[in-house]
Amino acid sequence: MTAELRTDATPLDPAALRADFPILDQQVFGHPLVYLDSAATSQKPQAVIEAMDAYYRQDNANVHRGIYQLSERATAAYEGARAKVAALIGAPDPRTVIWTRNATESINLVAYTWGRKNIHRGDAIILTEMEHHANLVPWQILTQEQDGDLEFIPIDDDGVLRLDVFEVLLRLRPKLVAFTHVSNTLGTINPVKEMTRMAHEAGALVLIDGAQAVPHVPVDVADIGCDFYVFSGHKALGPTGSGVLWGRRELLEAMPPFMGGGDMIREVHLRRSEWNDIPWKFEAGTPDISAQIGLGVAADYLRNLGMDRVREHERELVAYALETLAREIPGIELYGPPADIRGGVVPFNVPGVHPHDVAQVLDRFGVAIRAGHHCTMPLHERLDLAATARASFGVYTTKADIDALAAALREVQRLFA
Ligand SMILES: Cc1ncc(COP(=O)(O)O)c(C=O)c1O
Repeated sequence: MTAELRTDATPLDPAALRADFPILDQQVFGHPLVYLDSAATSQKPQAVIEAMDAYYRQDNANVHRGIYQLSERATAAYEGARAKVAALIGAPDPRTVIWTRNATESINLVAYTWGRKNIHRGDAIILTEMEHHANLVPWQILTQEQDGDLEFIPIDDDGVLRLDVFEVLLRLRPKLVAFTHVSNTLGTINPVKEMTRMAHEAGALVLIDGAQAVPHVPVDVADIGCDFYVFSGHKALGPTGSGVLWGRRELLEAMPPFMGGGDMIREVHLRRSEWNDIPWKFEAGTPDISAQIGLGVAADYLRNLGMDRVREHERELVAYALETLAREIPGIELYGPPADIRGGVVPFNVPGVHPHDVAQVLDRFGVAIRAGHHCTMPLHERLDLAATARASFGVYTTKADIDALAAALREVQRLFA
């Protein structure tokens, strides 16, 4: 791992980076593994694996409790990881970084605490047609319980949000606008800063689902100006079980707790309790200590690479994939916007072959992709598609991976001809 923050503009060298990801060095059905499912979960660099291993070998103890060396070291690493994540996403204060298990839990936390306090009969929440179920279902549950309304910003046929319709929807004076930063299915990078400004001008708060953004594009929550920002550690080179809710301090302080129990209290009496300060107010019970420590290391790893370089690498890969697949695979249907406003996600269909069959044949050639609705059923309905195949990229993806995908897709076509 590079020891210093990269400020130069040298392009990322994914082939060299692959040495940091031990899992990539293996064969599947006699072919080198080609991992094209990073939007589902990313692979983990050696540094993250080693940090978790070191925690269990040397520092394992509960945090915030013991007055002894191990616990102090565990607590320092656990809390230190907050500062690393804060630095990655431009959060001015590490105490506004709340640990959760994943993006899904972060969104539910806001829906259950802020939502139940602030959403009442007739209050509107605006979402978009491209949301992952994680940024849809919690708001359905909330508005059904509280008798609120949901409205949706539509997309155009390229999968770009219709901001002209958003403008009109804002006349409803919604309480909250919640949208994804980058679509997990189409890859669309939404204009989050502009959308936040528009929502704020209409008096709404803004929650951004950054699950597909933090590992792929530069994120600066202070610059975006949003109120809540969430992501999952496991998609950002970190371990499963690590997740983040970032929120504006005043909002987090005003929100009631999510779950009750140890660590989230300052004082407990038989009939009442007082809550701890943020972030611990939202972190009841023993957390996934090693996972959050691992996420801190992943955050440093990404920052050392330089997120501008990561973004440029993936923009180039998407452009290469769109061009290569269109040229090499006759009749292939490619969905989503151009590479300039797209993260590392390429959804497609091979006419006459169900995406599950495509994925299964690709697996025989060592190529791992995802097939199905990718937890965006309403988006697939809008596009009039039952399912899609999806190749998605990470810092370690190379053009050779895309060539291998194209070669395996030619075999799919040969097999189903
Ligand atoms: C855009 C987006 N939001 C939320 C999620 C949910 O992530 P998790 O299952 O880690 O909570 C995903 C996962 O695919 C996603 O792509």
